[in-house]
Amino acid sequence: MGSLPIAEARHRDLFDHAPDMFGSVDAATGIILSCNQNLATALGATKTDVLGRSVSSLHHADCLDDVERACQSLVETGEVHDAELLLQRPDGSTIDVSLNASSIRDDTGRVVRGWFIWRDISRRKRAEVALRASQARYENLYDDAPDMFASVDVATERIVQCNQTLVTVTGCSREELLGRPVREIHDPGCWPELAEALVRVRQTGRVRDVELQLTRHGTLIDVSLSAAAISDERDNLYYRATWRDVTERKRAQLALHQKQRELEHSRQELQALAARLMTAQEDERQRLSRELHDDLNQRLALLALEIETLERDLPESRPTTLARLRVLHDHVVALSNDVHTLAYQLHPSILDDLGLSAALESLTDDFTQREGIPVDIVQSVPDSIAPDVGSCLYRVSQEALRNVARHARAERVTMTLTRVEDGISLMISDSGLGFAAEAAAEPRQGLGIVSMQERVRLVNGRFSLTSQVGEGTQVLVWVPLPKDER
Ligand SMILES: Nc1ncnc2c1ncn2[C@@H]1O[C@H](COP(=O)(O)OP(=O)(O)OP(=O)(O)O)[C@@H](O)[C@H]1O
Ligand SMILES: [Mg+2]
Repeated sequence: MGSLPIAEARHRDLFDHAPDMFGSVDAATGIILSCNQNLATALGATKTDVLGRSVSSLHHADCLDDVERACQSLVETGEVHDAELLLQRPDGSTIDVSLNASSIRDDTGRVVRGWFIWRDISRRKRAEVALRASQARYENLYDDAPDMFASVDVATERIVQCNQTLVTVTGCSREELLGRPVREIHDPGCWPELAEALVRVRQTGRVRDVELQLTRHGTLIDVSLSAAAISDERDNLYYRATWRDVTERKRAQLALHQKQRELEHSRQELQALAARLMTAQEDERQRLSRELHDDLNQRLALLALEIETLERDLPESRPTTLARLRVLHDHVVALSNDVHTLAYQLHPSILDDLGLSAALESLTDDFTQREGIPVDIVQSVPDSIAPDVGSCLYRVSQEALRNVARHARAERVTMTLTRVEDGISLMISDSGLGFAAEAAAEPRQGLGIVSMQERVRLVNGRFSLTSQVGEGTQVLVWVPLPKDER
């Protein structure tokens, strides 16, 4: 075989088995003059069957108008581009194809034949159908989501897409929403926050939970906006915005705040009541103390004097009566001393007369004498301390020592009262049994620690108690001094 027939055979082979379907068509009659094997196979026929048929007969009835238009375009312009048509097999099944054609002209320039190329696009079509179906499913999801969604063009800040929920909540139709500046669905009062949020999306890619308000026919809906920057396949930039209706949450928060305010109000009332009670208690103690000291004690002193006079007036010949009078006199003096101590404990006049330092010295001396526990006391505070501060520190020391006596079984107590930069600090620590610190936080039967705390709070100070089993107990107090006394 010569080289020319070989080349021709190869050419024919290529032509027959090329992936596309080829055919030449007579321009005047539309009759197929030649075709490749691929076209015949695709149509479920032989080449002989195909040749001589009209080009329209290869196509499905639904696209005959399009075939007609393609042929016309071929004659008029010499070309056909990407006409989407359906080829039909004898069994009625169809093949999606895209037709491109070019013309073959005679010497006068007249189109005499067309060179048709059909490309099988069934796969692409199937993918498109599947895509549309999944889009429809997605849109369903998107539309029925409980949150409101929209895509907003970054350049114009107008809504380009939105879901049904946004339509329902804003009460605007989809047509009204699409193309509308996004800020217009918001309350003008929060436009600055919205603008700021959009700036942040551009800078950082997203924002979360920005609290804004949407409008619906004049009423406001509290929403939380989250947005992210996205781009489509053509690199157009959008904000993907999601609004969540937080009206209910806001309402619950408001109710909670209201309750908290009421609770705070009650707490303040209770504290004020405690303060009044403590002041009243202190006044009452002072009154009782004065009464005991100035009245009862004076009368007891007078009684003792009278007994002494009686003693002097009685003749020595009555030794038994004299002895009984002496016993009576000693009882009255002892009673008077007790009343004096009681009056002192109720309200130590020394606190008013000589100040806090002297009163604490006297308190610790009495404590040591009574309990047999030594107290190391270190004091460096000014003489003149406001009466309420002095009284508070005295009462705290009194209760702390009383607790040591009752609960600590301590061998030593240390008390330090020092002037610190802006106030006075008091520390009372013992070397006793201590108690579990967490127990100090539990509701207690005793009132001592609570009242120490309350007293310190009333003069705007700070109170702390630290204790550990086996490690002793430490009471720490700081009270502020008025600015002019610092
Ligand atoms: N210095 C201490 N050493 C050991 N335990 C202490 C000390 N101070 C307080 N406690 C413990 O803390 C508890 C509470 O003390 P608080 O002063 O509040 O009440 P109380 O002394 O029991 O009673 P009240 O002071 O009302 O007469 C005490 O019962 C005791 O168990
Ligand atoms: Mg106590």
